[in-house]
Amino acid sequence: MGAELKVLITGGAGFIGSTVASACLDQGITPVILDSLVTGRREFTEGRDFYQGDIADGPLLDRIFAEHPEISATIHCAALFAAPEPVSEPLHYYRENMAGTVALLEHLQRNGCGRLLFSSSASIYTPAPTSPWTSPPSWTRSAPTPAPRC
Ligand SMILES: NC(=O)c1ccc[n+]([C@@H]2O[C@H](COP(=O)([O-])OP(=O)(O)OC[C@H]3O[C@@H](n4cnc5c(N)ncnc54)[C@H](O)[C@@H]3O)[C@@H](O)[C@H]2O)c1
Repeated sequence: MGAELKVLITGGAGFIGSTVASACLDQGITPVILDSLVTGRREFTEGRDFYQGDIADGPLLDRIFAEHPEISATIHCAALFAAPEPVSEPLHYYRENMAGTVALLEHLQRNGCGRLLFSSSASIYTPAPTSPWTSPPSWTRSAPTPAPRC
């Protein structure tokens, strides 16, 4: 029998991540879930290897890879994902999603995990045949307010 194949799934207690985890199991691949449960549901992880924590938590990532050295790839589905909040609170979303992803990549690199599948934003797509180079009128930016001098 061959070695067990494992993948780390961030956001594996969420909609996309838990579905991907089920698809992995169907293919004989063991998912290892990392999720903070900020919006995810614990019951979606039942019967699966589950670690509750943040993607930016280096010591936790080190522990996961130490306990599951068979992990050969990461499927990154963890994100805050609730329009229109990213528009009203952009810095919070940049920190959680962008800075969090950069930290995750550093932790993966340190643990020798060089394969990453990224679940990109659902909001970058527009219905065909709209050109990706045009924005709906409601997205038109107003003139920027000059930043106050510090
Ligand atoms: N839902 C869709 O139709 C769809 C389509 C295409 C792409 N996507 C993308 O897939 C990703 C996940 O979407 P979803 O619909 O599954 O959302 P979701 O809210 O159901 O799942 C996100 C999961 O990530 C976890 N999470 C969030 N921040 C975390 C952090 N810092 N550390 C650890 N866990 C964290 C949450 O607890 C949650 O379980 C998003 O990037 C989204 O843009 C979603």
